[in-house]
Amino acid sequence: MLSKPEDTNLRRQTAQAASLLRRAAQPDLHHLGWAVLWLMGAALLEVLGPIMGKALIDKHLLPHHLDWPRMAGLLAGVLLTGWLASGLRYLQLVRLSGLAMRSVQRLREMVYGHVLRLPMAFFDRAITGQLVSRVTNDTEAVKTLYIQVLFVMLDSTIVLVGTVCAMAWLDWHLMVIVLALLPAVLLIIWVYQRWSAPAVTRARALRSDINGQMAESIGGMSVLQASNAEARFAARFGETNRQHYKARLAELRANAWLLRPALDLFNIILLAAVIFVFGQREMTSAEVGVLYAFISYLARVIEPLIQITMQFSQLQQSVVATARVSALLDEASAPEHAAERAAATDAAADAFARAAGSAGSGAAPDAVVALHANAPAVAIRHLNFAYGDGPTVLHDLSLEIPQGAFFGIVGHTGSGKSTLLSLLLRYYPAQHGSIVVHGRALDDIANDQFRADVGLVPQDPFLLAASVRENIDMGRGLPQEQIEAAARAAHAHDFICALEQGYDTELGEGGSRLSVGQKQLIAIARALAGKPRILLLDEATSHIDSQTEQIVQEAMNELRGRVTIIAIAHRLSTIRDADRIIVLNHGRIEEAGAHEELMQVDGGLYQRLYLLQQLAA
Ligand SMILES: Nc1ncnc2c1ncn2[C@@H]1O[C@H](COP(=O)(O)OP(=O)(O)OP(=O)(O)O)[C@@H](O)[C@H]1O
Ligand SMILES: [Mg+2]
Repeated sequence: MLSKPEDTNLRRQTAQAASLLRRAAQPDLHHLGWAVLWLMGAALLEVLGPIMGKALIDKHLLPHHLDWPRMAGLLAGVLLTGWLASGLRYLQLVRLSGLAMRSVQRLREMVYGHVLRLPMAFFDRAITGQLVSRVTNDTEAVKTLYIQVLFVMLDSTIVLVGTVCAMAWLDWHLMVIVLALLPAVLLIIWVYQRWSAPAVTRARALRSDINGQMAESIGGMSVLQASNAEARFAARFGETNRQHYKARLAELRANAWLLRPALDLFNIILLAAVIFVFGQREMTSAEVGVLYAFISYLARVIEPLIQITMQFSQLQQSVVATARVSALLDEASAPEHAAERAAATDAAADAFARAAGSAGSGAAPDAVVALHANAPAVAIRHLNFAYGDGPTVLHDLSLEIPQGAFFGIVGHTGSGKSTLLSLLLRYYPAQHGSIVVHGRALDDIANDQFRADVGLVPQDPFLLAASVRENIDMGRGLPQEQIEAAARAAHAHDFICALEQGYDTELGEGGSRLSVGQKQLIAIARALAGKPRILLLDEATSHIDSQTEQIVQEAMNELRGRVTIIAIAHRLSTIRDADRIIVLNHGRIEEAGAHEELMQVDGGLYQRLYLLQQLAA
């Protein structure tokens, strides 16, 4: 038996699932209404069959009243109602399957759209394979839920109610006997749910583990094989698989014991009870038709019950899957930025101004730019930051970067350089202190504007499995000239042209057919293509040979004065020419100044780092 917390867990999951389903099906809900109506029609037709059969027996067969046309009519009625009911039911299944499919499609888009808006902190703990499993497998399971719940449950319930009503009309004593046994069925369903629920939940979680392990291994195959870890990974995978098998087996055991066998037994008991009651009675000829109708109805009571109970296994799985999707949707999105909230009000104000006949609204954006023309590109004041509850990574950082300046950031591994960029990029909110970009607090800049203003060349160049062009464009719809100009500026144009299909060459997953240095050049071109006002480079030259590095340096020099450049570099030659070099040490600014100034500091961190690199070279 289950403990209390799991009990409330299940209830919560069911509530979550129900609300999610409603949301996903919202635009299609009228179909549901029609389906219920038509299914009720089908149930009515089905209930009519045995009544006509009874009439045939009672009015014609037993009294030997052979009125052929009427008898043929009744017989045809029995057949026709059955066919019509099946036809109607089939049409409703099609209707509801359509609803289910559209809902799943909506749900999947909803989930993907949501994942795209999640804050970076979420992806620090997310496991890719599991996430993928939620967007694909779990949403697919939701479809089952729709079809099971909407169709089988609905249909079975309607048939059940219709049949019980018909039984009551025929002989309500007998109907009461049948109904008295219903609680036994409810008990079976209840026990079944208790028994199988934990196994179903476990199986789902393990399935997504299996996906996760698979994705992870494929992603890191070269490392995995190089460290001779195949056997260990296979063993770990085998163990997870075995657990999954056990969970599924537990679930199947519950099915095997409780579904068909228990309910078939119930069927036999009911049949025996009805026959017993008829046996007790004085059997008049009028009773034979009732007995026939009743036995016909019994099958119609039992079958929906078996169907409903059998669906509970699927239902359980689907509820768990839906709850997992719902939990993902409940993850808080990245914070909305003040300007986006304001934008709606601005638009309203603009519309109002236009309506009032004033012509001034068009000048407003320029005024904003003019107002901040002399503001530093980036002003950081007393910034402190830690990841979650971890140790403080940045301590009381203050920094001002004028527009058009070229700043270098250096420091040993783990000193917080990438973290600083992440904060500048709004991936994480700053906990204490402020960051002001072009005179506006980071939170007050609308996302579109911010992303257009700030370009990033990340530490790990990320490429899509798409063409070179698409990789530089990144869905921004840039014209070919702009893409090519960016590639030229990044000095990637020549090697791109040397590829067999030039800009249309497909790069494979993660840009697997390029060298790491080439990937970095593409990443630089991508950042430049957006014509950013601030360009952030995180180790953009770490994998490029010295000659290409010089080319990139030239490219950066060409941008000088027009674009604010903030470049992190381990290779100090990259930032030698920077206007100012910031030396980070354990999250604090230890030194700052131009290359020559820092070289003057005897025993200084920068001087030591530089001399060491000179020595190595
Ligand atoms: N997502 C994260 N969650 C928790 N801690 C993190 C995360 N990213 C980085 N850290 C920690 O923050 C500190 C600074 O990391 P950061 O990536 O900023 O270093 P870095 O200066 O860029 O180093 P490198 O030169 O190796 O790239 C490290 O101690 C690291 O362990
Ligand atoms: Mg880093």
